[in-house]
Amino acid sequence: MLLAQAIATAFRQRFQHEPLLVRAPGRVNLIGEHTDYNGGFVLPAAVDKEIYFAVGLNQTDTIQLVAHDLDKTFSVATNGVQRSKTLWANYLLGVVAQFQKRGIQVPGFDCVFGGTIPMGAGMSSSAAVECGLAFALDQLLETQLDRMTLAHMAQKAEHEFAGVQSGLMDQFASLFGQAGQVVRLDCRSLAYEYFPFDTSACHIVLCNSGVKHSLASSEYNTRRQECERGVTILQQHYPAVQSLRDATREQVQALREELGEVVYRRCLYVVEENLRVEAACHHLLAGNLQAFGQEMYASHAGLRDQYEVSCRELDVLVAAAQTAPGVFGARMMGGGFGGCTINLISPEQVDSFIAHQKAAYQQQLGLPLETYSATIVAGVGLWAGPAEV
Ligand code: GLA
Repeated sequence: MLLAQAIATAFRQRFQHEPLLVRAPGRVNLIGEHTDYNGGFVLPAAVDKEIYFAVGLNQTDTIQLVAHDLDKTFSVATNGVQRSKTLWANYLLGVVAQFQKRGIQVPGFDCVFGGTIPMGAGMSSSAAVECGLAFALDQLLETQLDRMTLAHMAQKAEHEFAGVQSGLMDQFASLFGQAGQVVRLDCRSLAYEYFPFDTSACHIVLCNSGVKHSLASSEYNTRRQECERGVTILQQHYPAVQSLRDATREQVQALREELGEVVYRRCLYVVEENLRVEAACHHLLAGNLQAFGQEMYASHAGLRDQYEVSCRELDVLVAAAQTAPGVFGARMMGGGFGGCTINLISPEQVDSFIAHQKAAYQQQLGLPLETYSATIVAGVGLWAGPAEV
């Protein structure tokens, strides 16, 4: 939390006025991967790896951005906001552009931001940056946009300025998280439901493979296209299928030949993953963490073999977790091709689990392993300042 204070101080020193302070969390996803852009179900939670913002209007026509962690600055005229070569600035500029597209005039402002979400770890640092600024601007400009609108604007920023055709899960989780609860989102109707997640019975531990695959965003967009192709073919036979959410396993299997092997595998994965989310929620309500964990392992196998978004490092980590004591379940998390695995661990076994994973990673791949224990926190909000740190 010292970091949040440092960001507020850096803002005051550099810009000489009083900022609004906002915190925006990253997310974990317990299960339901690559289902969001297929109109399906996800089960994320906001966690205590966060981005902090100090933001204030500056009475000029210039936007001044400071990336505290990178020690970099970027400025642009309010009427010159467009996609930039400065990659980190795009997440913020993309959000400003969304306000402007809605006809909201964005005056000049100053912004210092930085945080503790590891980048490229599949914990949605980019969504946290987008959602944090969207929330801050909504407050400063008194636009009173609701959180779902802010989530959609942040998602659009990702599409248009970062070039990733992401679903809504990450932005939704960052804005709608609740302390101690996971939230199931129906990505078609946008209905959502909170489920208590008892961390006295089960801890969330993330193992960071350290791999940042350069193909991640292009392969992500390819997966989306493969799913769309699947829907087009399914629709010709089953007109009620508007997205893979509507398709059944039997329908996909019946069209195996016409879909072709690759699209068939992608579609089957999505249909089965949606079923797993439903089953997992049922197990969570029943307090059956063992059964919940089995759904996670099955999810990983599907991501590895059918959806093909895992990688050797993630597979090694999941296989190692499977042999460690006190593990309910493990799987890769997020878009894939690197990033973290999410592991549900019985509290008294957390230390031995971490030691086990580090040893396995070192032994099998000769690599050091970073791990994080995640606590489930509230979504994006105002940060009251030093009293809270
Ligand atoms: C990334 C995207 C999300 C979601 C996941 C995979 O995190 O931003 O919208 O599609 O991948 O579940």
